[in-house]
Amino acid sequence: MRAGVLQRGLDGAAVTGALALCLGCLHVIALKSQLLTGLGGSSDSAEAPVSYETFYFDQKIDHFGFLEDGTFKQRYLVAHKHWQQPGGPVLFYTGNEGDITWFCNNTGFMWETAEELGAMLVFAEHRYYGESLPFGQDSYSDSKHLNYLTSEQALADFAVLIQNLKSTLPGAQHSPVIAVGGSYGGMLAAWFRMKYPNIVIGALAASAPIWQFTGIVPCGDFYKIVTQDYARSGYNCDANIRKSWKAINNVSSTVSGLQWLSQEFSLCIPLKNKSDAVGFKNWLQETWVNLAMVDYPYEANFLQPLPRWPITVVCKHLAYDPGVSDYQLLHGVSQAAKVYYNFTGTSSCLNTSQTATGSLGLLGWFYQACTEMVMPMCTDGVQDMFEPEEWNFKAFADECSAMFGVRPRADWAGAVYGGKDIASHSNIIFSNGGLDPWSSGGVTSNITDSLVSIVIPDGAHHLDLRYRNDYDPPSVRAARALEVMYFRKWIKQAKRPPQT
Ligand SMILES: *[C@@H]1O[C@H](CO)[C@@H](O)[C@H](O)[C@H]1NC(C)=O
Ligand SMILES: *[C@@H]1O[C@H](CO)[C@@H](O)[C@H](O)[C@H]1NC(C)=O
Ligand SMILES: *[C@@H]1O[C@H](CO)[C@@H](O)[C@H](O)[C@H]1NC(C)=O
Ligand SMILES: *[C@@H]1O[C@H](CO)[C@@H](O)[C@H](O)[C@H]1NC(C)=O
Ligand SMILES: *[C@@H]1O[C@H](CO)[C@@H](O)[C@H](O)[C@H]1NC(C)=O
Ligand SMILES: *[C@@H]1O[C@H](CO)[C@@H](O)[C@H](O)[C@H]1NC(C)=O
Repeated sequence: MRAGVLQRGLDGAAVTGALALCLGCLHVIALKSQLLTGLGGSSDSAEAPVSYETFYFDQKIDHFGFLEDGTFKQRYLVAHKHWQQPGGPVLFYTGNEGDITWFCNNTGFMWETAEELGAMLVFAEHRYYGESLPFGQDSYSDSKHLNYLTSEQALADFAVLIQNLKSTLPGAQHSPVIAVGGSYGGMLAAWFRMKYPNIVIGALAASAPIWQFTGIVPCGDFYKIVTQDYARSGYNCDANIRKSWKAINNVSSTVSGLQWLSQEFSLCIPLKNKSDAVGFKNWLQETWVNLAMVDYPYEANFLQPLPRWPITVVCKHLAYDPGVSDYQLLHGVSQAAKVYYNFTGTSSCLNTSQTATGSLGLLGWFYQACTEMVMPMCTDGVQDMFEPEEWNFKAFADECSAMFGVRPRADWAGAVYGGKDIASHSNIIFSNGGLDPWSSGGVTSNITDSLVSIVIPDGAHHLDLRYRNDYDPPSVRAARALEVMYFRKWIKQAKRPPQT
């Protein structure tokens, strides 16, 4: 999320630039597009539909104070088909910012591993998302109601839920529990093990940028990785995208140019003026970023239905020599954008406000970004292919204040979760895709024997958590095998009687 973007509010194209950087907005957007197109969650896999039971747990609204005594219904899903009781392991998905059934459907790795390990699966919904709304329809009404939307409260929900399951589910009392999550859910899985080592024996944190916070990693790394993805995927691809922003400025400086652009890109709503053109550029930038996150080796429908290796397909339209004219270049850009928005050939026009919405999921993540999850991002136009934009905390904070009446605390995440000083923790796997821009804030080298990093060079955003596929590169197969190996090791350790 960038400064200068939130400001314009949630309606209209201008806000789309913010979504690009919203870590798991990804998921919410995906969920939305599936609902809109009527495609099911795991429609891109050949797997049988997943089967689970849905439950609701009375969860405290506030775990950390005693004034607010209310409870809400937290949704969680359970699948115990393969569970070996008593004492079989539990794989526990630490839900992130969206409907938990969507994460459940899209985390094929857990379903495949349940069978291997004789494990029960539990998917717990994050408070304020999906059906788990602390104050029902009023949950988002103002900052007073939003006050209990924090990662700390969410982790406490998970801890209390697991304790309750262990004491009430026959055969679960001695079951070792392993946390699993991807993206923000991966951050939660890692933090869960750090904060509640008594509750979970280990964690798999997939594509979890736990270091994407103030002063920990350079703000430009994210966009550098996006740019590298394009640079490796076709002739002059990154250079031509870098050039396209000026070409848009040139062409959009006249009314006829704006008309031409609107027609060339088949925009649902034509561009009228300079500020529309700025929103248009934000939307394009978001498109390139989304593609970097979902540059999967096979046809998939995670955010949008896409061909295999979509960036390579996009770059075929951008392989111009340096002398290309503005109009020709932008023709290529429009063809490239349509790979993302019209792969199935069913879209009648491109909607530059497609991802801008007031839906709860997005709003919730905005709020989290405006409080604890401050992730500085910047571009310089040299090491990345975007227009230069500095990170401006003050402007960002002002936007948050205007939008939610709260101000972000830039250093809080680092203080509460340890920043780089996490070596005293244990049993966490950090997996990262080399193509995934979020690996910029991930743990990409081993910290100790039991804080292990797995790098999947050909992997995009948590490829390892997805269902197996014939096109999976060897690196992701190896990663999954290693992950299961660690799971087994932790389970064995947990079964050993305590030393006295
Ligand atoms: C998840 O899968 C179930 C069963 O296959 C389906 O009913 C549900 O709609 C899916 N959820 C989402 C968000 O795709
Ligand atoms: C934009 O216009 C300027 C001034 O006419 C020109 O020098 C430049 O080549 C054009 N295109 C780009 C991509 O900069
Ligand atoms: C630009 O046009 C849009 C409609 O397309 C309008 O909402 C907006 O106010 C205009 N902005 C300026 C600065 O004229
Ligand atoms: C999408 O593709 C179909 C089939 O090629 C085409 O008829 C349609 O015009 C395209 N839509 C847009 C917005 O370009
Ligand atoms: C564009 O998308 C927005 C947000 O999803 C939606 O409200 C609007 O109706 C869409 N416009 C068109 C012309 O499809
Ligand atoms: C971390 O250690 C494991 C086990 O030795 C190894 O497989 C893995 O490649 C190492 N990770 C990195 C990023 O070097």
